[in-house]
Amino acid sequence: MTMRMGSDHYGPILVTGGAGFIGSNFVLEWLRHIGTPVLNLDGLTYAGNLENLRSLEGDARHIFVHGDISDEKLVAALLQEYRPQAIVHFAAESHVDRSIVSPDAFIRTNVFGTFALLQAARSYFSALGEEQKKTFRFLHVSTDEVYGSLTPEDPAFTEDTPYAPNSPYAASKAASDHLVRAYFHTYGLPVLTTNCSNNYGPFQFPEKLIPLMILNGLEGKPLPVYGDGRNVRDWLFVEDHCSAIRAVLEGGRPGETYNIGGSSERTNLEVVATICDLLDELSPDQKIGSRRNLMTFVPDRPGHDRRYAINAEKIRRELGWSPVEKFETGIRKTVQWYLEHRDWVEHVRSGAYLQWIETNYAGRNA
Ligand code: NAD
Ligand code: TYD
Repeated sequence: MTMRMGSDHYGPILVTGGAGFIGSNFVLEWLRHIGTPVLNLDGLTYAGNLENLRSLEGDARHIFVHGDISDEKLVAALLQEYRPQAIVHFAAESHVDRSIVSPDAFIRTNVFGTFALLQAARSYFSALGEEQKKTFRFLHVSTDEVYGSLTPEDPAFTEDTPYAPNSPYAASKAASDHLVRAYFHTYGLPVLTTNCSNNYGPFQFPEKLIPLMILNGLEGKPLPVYGDGRNVRDWLFVEDHCSAIRAVLEGGRPGETYNIGGSSERTNLEVVATICDLLDELSPDQKIGSRRNLMTFVPDRPGHDRRYAINAEKIRRELGWSPVEKFETGIRKTVQWYLEHRDWVEHVRSGAYLQWIETNYAGRNA
């Protein structure tokens, strides 16, 4: 990678949501690969966890600010003080099931929060010098869920696929994508948008499919598969998502969107079976026996999208990015990571987590 983003003619990068799953992986990877300072703004919701960044304690290159992206005054003050060369925007409410139970926070953070951030960024950008304007970027991290659901025969999502969000989460992300686009066309803010498929890897909060199944399987608890389990997701190891974001930040064309995916479509049944077999191999337990026996079909998620699949040809062609991990290698690393980080798991399973598990699964009797 060249050093446009690494040059030190002005400040750090501002990362929002850098204490969450993908954000914390991104911060750690950024400091490992690029090494310039990161200003990390995170509201520390149930999904944000400074433990993810514990290895950075005492590292002056990581500056943490506990605050809300919707607080435009705070964001404006941070931009003035630190003069970042880019904003990488991860902060969001991100769990579809939670968006079904209570959508309000999704609209507040994903729509109003992104709006506040754009407003502050626009004002900051307009006052930059000409040289700084050339290199400043606002990178908005979004999802493939904005494109809606595919049938088994449909071609994968491209950047031209029309938006058709189906969950309150997807709708709130779609709204934020549209605002980001509008700030490019109306105000000339140099934005980049990435739409990525499902991530998995270290530090993922154990309410999402993969870490939930790993931990339940480890403890011999039921593995709740929604509906018939044949919904398909296109899984990407989180480090590959982070390298794609760095590539887009470095070489993406302002105003463009880039799809990111791992070309690893799997049904939920395949994913859960793979996790079961890995647990049986890496952490056998005679009392539990074969983890596959723990799989339990439960009532489906309302409006459950059938299939997501990403065509990542544009980012490959324009920026030379492709994922390093295959699903089989990434999922093995992930299971191993959860086995080796039981202390992290215990810390994030707070009272709020237990309450969510009760809310989401109590009504879904097998
Ligand atoms: P996450 O839920 O693990 O983390 C979100 C982070 O944002 C947390 O640290 C939280 O404290 C913070 N946050 C939430 N509201 C905030 C607010 N108002 N102000 C400041 N901080 C706030 O999410 P994730 O899985 O890491 O996803 C990060 C981004 O990537 C999201 O924008 C999501 O839509 C997108 N994305 C996620 C996936 C995936 O599979 N997880 C796939 C594609 C895109
Ligand atoms: P999830 O990790 O919530 O991601 P998303 O809904 O954003 O794709 O879920 C991934 C898939 O796993 C999705 O099809 C729903 C399914 N799922 C289950 O079958 N059981 C569960 O307990 C959870 C959390 C998800």
